[in-house]
Amino acid sequence: MCGIVAYLGGRRCEPILIEGLKRLEYRGYDSAGLAVLSPKGLRIERAVGRVANLEDKLERLGGLDGALGMAHTRWATHGGVTEANAHPHRDDRSGICLVHNGIIENYAALRTYLEEKGHKFHSETDTEVLAMLVGELYEGDLEHAVQAALREVTGAYAICVICEKEPGVLVCARKGSPLIVGVGSGEYVVASDPSAIVAHTTQAVTLDDYNVVKITREGFRSSTIHDVDVTPKVMQLELDLEQIELGSYSHFMQKEIFEQPKALRNTLRGRVDLDEGKVVLGGLSNFGKDLVRARRVLLTGQGTALHAAMIGRYLMEDVGKVPATAEYASEFRYRNPLIEEGTVVVAVSQSGETADTLAALTEAKDRGALALGVVNVVGSTISRETDAGVYLRVGPEIGVASTKAFTGQVMVLTLISMFLGRRRSLSGERGQMLIEELQKLPDKIERVLEQDRTIRRVTERYIERNNWLFLGRGYNYPVAMEGALKLKEISYIHAEGMPAAEMKHGPIALIDQGMPAVFVANKGPQYEKVMSNIAEVRARGGHVIAVATEGDEHIKTVAQDVLYVPDCPDCLSPILTVVPLQLMAYHAAVLRGHDVDKPRNLAKSVTVE
Ligand code: F6R
Repeated sequence: MCGIVAYLGGRRCEPILIEGLKRLEYRGYDSAGLAVLSPKGLRIERAVGRVANLEDKLERLGGLDGALGMAHTRWATHGGVTEANAHPHRDDRSGICLVHNGIIENYAALRTYLEEKGHKFHSETDTEVLAMLVGELYEGDLEHAVQAALREVTGAYAICVICEKEPGVLVCARKGSPLIVGVGSGEYVVASDPSAIVAHTTQAVTLDDYNVVKITREGFRSSTIHDVDVTPKVMQLELDLEQIELGSYSHFMQKEIFEQPKALRNTLRGRVDLDEGKVVLGGLSNFGKDLVRARRVLLTGQGTALHAAMIGRYLMEDVGKVPATAEYASEFRYRNPLIEEGTVVVAVSQSGETADTLAALTEAKDRGALALGVVNVVGSTISRETDAGVYLRVGPEIGVASTKAFTGQVMVLTLISMFLGRRRSLSGERGQMLIEELQKLPDKIERVLEQDRTIRRVTERYIERNNWLFLGRGYNYPVAMEGALKLKEISYIHAEGMPAAEMKHGPIALIDQGMPAVFVANKGPQYEKVMSNIAEVRARGGHVIAVATEGDEHIKTVAQDVLYVPDCPDCLSPILTVVPLQLMAYHAAVLRGHDVDKPRNLAKSVTVE
């Protein structure tokens, strides 16, 4: 969603801010803007659409001078996509200028209060309200004005604020929305995402909720919104430029699909003990006893992460030997859930910032559950709010469509289920077998990736079709859901994913001549049943594209197109069967001429409920 980058130092900040905005583009946005405090005063420029539009505008204006500034990409929440609603926003009295991620929940009441005081608003945003409030409370000290304003605010925010009257000061603060201060030599780059910082420094200070940081060329001070000093938490950003650059790939989604073998080797590294047939998860070691006593595992997430959680549910029962459920975080939170003693909630999230997942986690914790996180972004809010967890270690995911995070999530959930299972009734022998098979998966994914051209050719055959079905059973029912989600989000083709058996309870009515039906039909316990479902589709004129197990010749007699994956135990198969579906979605979007990494209306991390 929205992105922030700000700079204070000795260099001209405009190119640094624009480069930072480009690195944040992947998060999804609809307008962009920047403010620079130049020797001639405060300059603000904004543009609807891509960062390139803002860049063009700045070029036409001859560029902005100044070594203090901040920039923003906006994903509309309050108010339409217009230049007036784009950030930065300024107040009308004190020369205050502000960029903001998050939502100010009490903005309407604050706006009424400020209008009564005579302030005139030019946008429909909650952010302008906050800028006005800081201006209203300004008495010659920006840091104190920001603290005072934030004491009046409910909601979530990451903000950067500058003031014309204090040309060497940058103030930032956060609550519930990420913000990091990159500390370079004699300069600072503040951003909502490390990818906008690492080109300049890997030393960073993280902010906790309600922290305010005042930055000058001489140094910085961390405090709370109540002006109590805070000891800054310094961290090293584990990110290098190569990881966030495209290299020889055309899109980040493509790069990340192809990175999966390497990423999963990383996920596994040091976490398995083949001799003992068991899993070693440092992040869970202090909670071994609680996990042995666990009576129920409740997995939650949204979108792709929920699909991984659904596979996790099967794994927890089959391998972990504990009753499990999986559900949308957004639904869990509001249904007044009953949490019995011994419930473990597992929040699955790539970004670790998804508002719905965070809210569900908080709800479950408040009701006494032990909270575990399966998260990719180190230090993210969910990773901090959970009692314990296991990181994915798949590296930064920039493509909006989640791919390597999905396989990483399934891999980590497999490890957690084995961690639980070996403390219950999973035998050492089955543990060893699963570890051996897990270790073979990265090489097997490479074999699937080698079929990229075939997958493109098959996709091309159906590219004109506007309605697709994705069907699977057991472990591969969530994979069918994931295949459908991938296709719709980047190629804008309507697709439905469901359990194959569900089709005849209604959706079968959709099948007409030539409708593509993608079946995950690997050799698992339900193979014969899937064959019957394929026959039902064929009998009605549908075209079957099957993801099948290498060596299955029979499938060629029933499906029009077959994409093969290597054989593996059924419980591990989603890590292989999803890969052809990811590639199909990728090729469909490219063939239809869409911007794969910036799909319309989507944001990489959804920080509003
Ligand atoms: C789909 C996709 C989304 C996310 C969902 C949860 O490709 O990326 O469905 O999976 O928004 O995001 P995280 O995993 O960051 O919590």
